[in-house]
Amino acid sequence: MAQRDGFTSTFGVLVATLGSAVGLGNIWKFPYLTGTNGGAGFLLVYLLATLLVGLPVMIAEIMLGRTARANAVSSFEILSPRQPFWKSIGYMGLVAAVLILAFYTEVAGWVFAYVVKSLTGALGHTDPVAAKATFGALVSSPAQALLWQWLVLALTGGIIMLGVSKGIEAAAKKLMPLLFLLLIALCVRSLTLPGAAEGLRFLFAPDFTKINTGVLLTALGLAFFKLSIGMGTMLTYGSYFRPEQNIPTTAARVMLADLSVSLLAGMAIFPAVFAFGFEPAAGPSLVFMTIPAVFDSMPGGSIFMTLFFVLTAVASLGAILSILEVPVAMMTERWSWSRRKATLATLAVIALLGAPASLSQSLTQHWTLFGLNAFDLFDYLSSNVLLPLGGILICLFVGWHYGLPRLRAGLSNDGALDNGKLVGALFVLLRYISPLLIVIVMFKAIGAF
Ligand code: PHE
Repeated sequence: MAQRDGFTSTFGVLVATLGSAVGLGNIWKFPYLTGTNGGAGFLLVYLLATLLVGLPVMIAEIMLGRTARANAVSSFEILSPRQPFWKSIGYMGLVAAVLILAFYTEVAGWVFAYVVKSLTGALGHTDPVAAKATFGALVSSPAQALLWQWLVLALTGGIIMLGVSKGIEAAAKKLMPLLFLLLIALCVRSLTLPGAAEGLRFLFAPDFTKINTGVLLTALGLAFFKLSIGMGTMLTYGSYFRPEQNIPTTAARVMLADLSVSLLAGMAIFPAVFAFGFEPAAGPSLVFMTIPAVFDSMPGGSIFMTLFFVLTAVASLGAILSILEVPVAMMTERWSWSRRKATLATLAVIALLGAPASLSQSLTQHWTLFGLNAFDLFDYLSSNVLLPLGGILICLFVGWHYGLPRLRAGLSNDGALDNGKLVGALFVLLRYISPLLIVIVMFKAIGAF
């Protein structure tokens, strides 16, 4: 087998892992779900899900990948040769990757469209009705929706074929701090708008009556989606980790940085939502309406707005490349396909499946299943079903089959790190608490009790 590629420095590992975690999930999905699920209560459940389930699963996944040094399917074959069942985790991840990309590339397309719109001055307003019309015109035009998605697919294909994904990583390393700074500036503006306090209350003062089983499952699903876990992305990235990398510390840092970006996005958006009279429960359009309004009300806003959408687009590319890595690593390692062929095949499937998602506000709006259009269905199936299921299986694999001694060896770098207590606690979480929490939330959501 060809020499496997890997990350070249411990800092590079951190950046690449962060590049996978930070993306549209922070800027687009977190605010919109917080808005539709009642605010602070949702945030609280999401935080708990991240700590009690997300972080342990993330650490376990990276460890499995680094130990096996292979793609998400082969890793389970290598680590458990006598129980072929476990490699279904990898196959489920493959399905999740394709479903996520089918709608994620569409949202990334909207971001690219907003880069152009911000340049042409089409976004200069704080009026909710006008903002809604601008977004509506984009998503309800079949040609525009498709073209922007295809642009994103072509761009990601090009990045991989030209072999410049390392370039993207290098760029992300420089651009990520800039996105962070811009979000802070946005927060300051948003928080000083008249009426901002109501937005803060919405985000931070929980109303427990709004927490129902649907909210619990959505928050859990978001925790998985945000940390890129439950589907083999972190496992695949783990397989490129260096032997001396401290996995628990790296994972905890990524989680904290990722949470900060989401919270900043929330604090940039919700005060403005209330100040300008937007609807917090607007759904996927929330960010695209509110962010331009905040920029419009600050000096030099139009330049910063363009910069913001460019940076968000770059962040989304980092996440897309990491999702693509799951099928691409599988095809190259298991079928000996070239990276180019594997990428093109995956992108072709995504273009096919992505079309009904991107047209779900126009031509395919009546194609529904369980009351969800293709866009929402792909999102629901991946975040709320496949990722948590993958999470349960990873917990069961590590907690009941792989066992504490091997977990200990994997996470202490064969004894080089003194983290025995931490690993012990993590093992209890992985064996009992995390899987039980996921099972309870999933069963409750389907009304089993
Ligand atoms: N975590 C990414 C985001 O928030 C999305 C993602 C999901 C990436 C699953 C990889 C795997 O944008």
